[in-house]
Amino acid sequence: MTLKTLFITGGAGFIGSALVRLLIAESDWTIVNIDKLTYAGNLESLATVSDNRRHVFSRTDICEREALDSLFAEHRPSGVIHLAAESHVDRSIHGPAEFIQTNIVGTYTLLEATRAYWSALAAAEKSSFRFHHVSTDEVYGSLGAEGLFTETTPYRPNSPYSASKASSDHLVRAWLHTYGLPTVTSNCSNNYGPYQFPEKLIPLMITHALSGKPLPIYGKGDNVRDWLYVDDHARALKIVFERGVPGEVYNIGGNNEKTNLEVIDTLCSLLDRLRPRTDGRSYLDLKTSVADRPGHDKRYAIDAGKINRDLGWKPQESFESGIAKTIDWYLSNPEWIAHVVSGEYRTWMEKQYGK
Ligand code: NAD
Ligand code: DAU
Repeated sequence: MTLKTLFITGGAGFIGSALVRLLIAESDWTIVNIDKLTYAGNLESLATVSDNRRHVFSRTDICEREALDSLFAEHRPSGVIHLAAESHVDRSIHGPAEFIQTNIVGTYTLLEATRAYWSALAAAEKSSFRFHHVSTDEVYGSLGAEGLFTETTPYRPNSPYSASKASSDHLVRAWLHTYGLPTVTSNCSNNYGPYQFPEKLIPLMITHALSGKPLPIYGKGDNVRDWLYVDDHARALKIVFERGVPGEVYNIGGNNEKTNLEVIDTLCSLLDRLRPRTDGRSYLDLKTSVADRPGHDKRYAIDAGKINRDLGWKPQESFESGIAKTIDWYLSNPEWIAHVVSGEYRTWMEKQYGK
């Protein structure tokens, strides 16, 4: 058995690709990257590791049991980090079906394929095996003005996305409790940083601003999110996978609560300084109020004390340092943005893997 092989699902997405890049640079794991390449999967985000022999890409849907069984038989991993999901709340409101399919049925299928493989391992390999489920703080619902989500906050998901992620968390818990599969789950707050698909708040605002388009603010812009730089999340995932205790849940967050207006104003001021508009106006003039998101959660904020105490993780970036790095990356990588906006990022993948 190759003991240092690890499956990562969703490794062509925003957080998954950050984790793959980190593990290639800072570990000796061989990674089998299992990704369906939906609209959110982008192999250009993996360009820096694509020639690395420790990175094996497989275009596979986690809902396809036979394909998963073949991958387990071929690569014999010592763990799985499961990130593959439909991840955007607005899309879940307009079309929940894919969220139910990938996030619930896909997680179930992956758990069953993992269980079949894991059950046949020798005792030592069985006990060291880990299934790490990557989830979200949105499963806890919405906070009022006070308080923080902890690992014992009751689940109250409010959107089709968060309900599908909550379902997957419960499935993972049941596979541990019923079958003894050694699982850990992490629930993280809002991520931002390089390579994020420009449907999420921060990259959407940056890409709209740079092309002079309106900056759509849902409702009053006073909803609060707790922002975490994506590489800090990737470092936390590595630690949880390698040292987390089976059966435990770890909340991950940046301790960076901001209203959406604060985030947008910060982005506009930085862009005014770094890439002034040619007409001499401020990017702030592009701010536009639009209809609120239905069921819009008011506030998320994470107590990340447990992962700090038990596993020694804390974020390296402040919001100020992370947002500066993020803007710098988007300004320095116009090709990545242009390919995503034009849809060109799919051409190469389709040539390679079909539609
Ligand atoms: P993303 O949308 O950028 O990437 C998702 C990836 O999963 C894509 O590469 C996509 O092709 C792949 N995928 C989708 N359906 C698949 C399927 N059926 N089979 C195989 N691959 C499939 O998402 P992200 O923002 O990187 O989030 C990754 C994970 O982290 C998700 O589970 C999400 O719920 C969780 N999470 C995200 C955030 C955040 O702020 N983005 C915060 C906390 C937790
Ligand atoms: O909390 C973790 C979650 O964070 C993850 O599980 C999700 O995968 C991720 O998408 C994110 O969910 P949010 O709904 O919080 O993120 P989003 O970037 O879509 O929106 C952030 C806030 O900005 C939210 O209050 C809605 C608002 N917003 C968003 C967009 C896209 C706007 O005001 N205008 C916009 O155009």
